[in-house]
Formats: sequence, structure tokens, C-alpha cells
Amino acid sequence: MISCLIKPVSGVGGRIILPGDKSIAHRAVILSALSSGKTIIGNFPLNNDLLATVSAFRGLGVNIECPLKSGKIYSGVSVVVKGAGARGLKRPKGPINAGESGTTIRLLSGLLCAQDFHSRLTAGKQLSGRPMSRVTLPLRQMGAGIAGKCGPSAEEYPPLSIHPGRLHNITYRMPVASAQVKSALLLAGIYCSGITTIIEPVMTRDHTERMLKMFGADISTGRCRGRYQVKIRGGKFPVTPGILTVPGDISSAAFFLVLAVLCPGSRLVLERITLNPGRSGVLNVLKRMGADIRVSGNKDKFSRSEPCGDIEARYSRLRSTTVSAAEIPSLIDELPVLMVAASLAKGVTVFKKVDELKYKETDRIRSMCGNLRLMGARCEVRERGGGTDIAIEGVKSLSGCSLKSYGDHRTAMSLFVAASCAHGESVIDDISCAAKSLPGFLEYMRAVSVV
Ligand code: S3P
Repeated sequence: MISCLIKPVSGVGGRIILPGDKSIAHRAVILSALSSGKTIIGNFPLNNDLLATVSAFRGLGVNIECPLKSGKIYSGVSVVVKGAGARGLKRPKGPINAGESGTTIRLLSGLLCAQDFHSRLTAGKQLSGRPMSRVTLPLRQMGAGIAGKCGPSAEEYPPLSIHPGRLHNITYRMPVASAQVKSALLLAGIYCSGITTIIEPVMTRDHTERMLKMFGADISTGRCRGRYQVKIRGGKFPVTPGILTVPGDISSAAFFLVLAVLCPGSRLVLERITLNPGRSGVLNVLKRMGADIRVSGNKDKFSRSEPCGDIEARYSRLRSTTVSAAEIPSLIDELPVLMVAASLAKGVTVFKKVDELKYKETDRIRSMCGNLRLMGARCEVRERGGGTDIAIEGVKSLSGCSLKSYGDHRTAMSLFVAASCAHGESVIDDISCAAKSLPGFLEYMRAVSVV
């Protein structure tokens, strides 16, 4: 645990390039590992979650060249994966530890169910408390031999034990909108005969679909009775494009954007950030709130399968908005920092059906509302029959105080933003958790802050 004293800043300015997008980079390692031959992945984010995925594939016999130093600023790092081929993964010598990475454990669960060896996926303390039935249930429907540790209300948790099984294709209507679940099933679907169809209640980030297409898989996307659906025909294994570059992480960018919008006099440019529509809800909501945010240059060629561009944010006076349930998946990870923006916007901002926040690294409804209230914000949690809403009435200013991150990277970084534009100093009990997604967060903040 590393505590952090935060003094208010008088603005932020300059231009920064952030490390590659965490979600996209996980998929890049996975599909490169399943291809035969070498893939160079540029702008790779050396955060703790990605290091867990790299180490998992090393344990499965894949050769990955990666500078294994996290905790420093490392944008622009390239990683070289010498793929084993879809049938070339080796039985691991021991359990595969996903650390605290939900994306690692859930995506690998789909992939490992299709292998002809036993495996066991273990997790760190926080991840061991996060629900896994959302992946184990559909995978069992596909014939997989997967089981988690049983907890209250028959929910399954890590560790996950996987026995070799013959998978068959299914049509699965997902009860919860989750890109991790969709991706686990798509990875399993590569190994099934026939077409696996996944239908989402609300479309989630489509990085797996885009990357599978880039790696030559037989995959199609479309709509069925208004719902987004993906179909994958098994048996067409990934083929490497040779080289790809990961665009900057919009979830990391969001902390800098919100701080720029909230601090008078700020003007900040974030270069080459992912603009995937399944991720850019934060930009739509901030613009609706009156934020001066300009997006330029769709540098599609840079990242190959993903749209990306530069985002400029300037100080703006914010007003409230309503964020609908349908928008939540496109900004799920940015909700904590949007709650900070709402705390300082004129009027009452309502975030509808935010229940999924309860199942992240910590319960982010509690972590954010609790801390923001200590700073003087007016947050109300409304439990309705159909789900949980958060209503935040903006105040003129927040007050610095003693804050708790609960070991959650996005709570910690959101509180840092709130504290940076509060009156008076604040202390966050632990900021080291930021390394889960953005090692060097404090250095990046220092680089852009005007004190
Ligand atoms: C992710 C999907 C989202 C997101 C998580 C990363 C991914 O989770 O919150 O940080 O990379 O697929 P869910 O799939 O649980 O919604």
C-alpha cells in the first residue's frame, strides 16, 4: 500500500501519449499466441493485468519477449509473441495465476476449456471474490468441463478447474451485458464445429470480434430483432497479421480528460486514443454535459482494426445529464470518474442501472459514493425494482479530506482527480493499485499538472 498526498492543481496542459488499451492488448496477446509465427504488438501497456496474461501464456508454452518491468512509464514498448498455434498450447506445469485480472481469467476460461489438457486458473484476493458463473454456465452448455469454487447463492468463484472436453456450438442469449463473457465464448467457439451465436442484451465493446476478423477468423456481426449478435464458425484458426499497434487506452485517458474539463484554464491533448464506439460513451456523456472536447483524425491505419484519434479537452462549465441503461456498457469503467464530473456539474445527473459496478475490483457504487460524500458531494443510491441508479446533485466545490481506494485502481485514480480540483489537501490511503491498469499514473499526472 502506498498512500498519496494530493494538493489541488491550478490546471492541466500539454500533450501526452498513453500506453495501449488494456482490453485490446489482452486480445492481441491471446490471438497472437494462437497463431503460428511472430507477432509484434506495439504500444503495449506493461500494467499488472497484462503481465498476468503474458505470464499465463508463457506457462502455456508460448514464447513472449516483453520487458518485464512495470511501474515505470513505458508507452511505446513493443512485445513480440512467437505463437504456438491454436493446437500448440502446452499443458501448464502448475496452476495459471490470473492475478487480479478479470479479463485474463474469463477469456482464458473459454480458451482453456477447448484444450486437450487439464488446467486450473487461480486468482488474487480481490479477483477471488468476483463472480464467475457468468462464464462457467454457458461454457458448460457448450460441453465444457469447468467448475469454480461454490459460494453463496450457488455463485461460482475462482479458482476454476478445467477438464478436457469436446465442445459443441450453441446459441447463447447473454443475461448480462459483458464483453468478457462474450469473448470467452467466442474463443471457445473457434474450436467448435458449426456456428456459435451470441446475442447481447446491449452491445458491449467489440474488440474480440474486430481482432478475430483481423486474424482471419470466420466471424460475422449483425442485429437480430434489434439485438446485437455475433456468429463464429469454428475450425478457422487465427493467422497473425505480423504487426499491430495498440491505440491509447480511453479508460486511462478519461481521468486526464475529466481533470482538464474541471480545472479552469486547462487545455490538454491525448494522442492516438481508441475511439471504438463501444468504449467512447464517456466522450458522448461529457460533451452532453457541456464539455469542450474535440476529437480529430481517425487514424484507422495506425491501429489496423480499431478506430483511434487525438482528443483535446478544455476547461468547461458542466451541467447535469441522464446516462441511460443502454449507454452503461460503453462507459462502464469510466463511471467512477464521471461521478466526479457529476459532483461538480450544475443540476442532478442520473446514472441508470449501474448494477454491474458492484462486481468490479470493489463495489464501485459504495467506494465512489462513500468517498465523494466525505468530500461534500451529494450522491444518492436509488434501489429500484429493475436495478440500481445513482443520482448526483452537483455542488460548487469539493473539500479535500482523507480518502480510501479499497485497492481499486479506478476508484483511486478517480479520487485523485476529485482531490486535484478540491479545496484543501487530500490523502488517498493506497494509490499503488493504479498499476493494475496505468503504472506511472502519478508521473503522467505530474507531467501535465500546473501547480
Ligand atoms: C472488459 C470488459 C468489461 C470491463 C473490463 C474489461 C474487457 O467487463 O469492465 O474492465 O476487456 O472485456 P465486463 O465484461 O464484465 O463488462
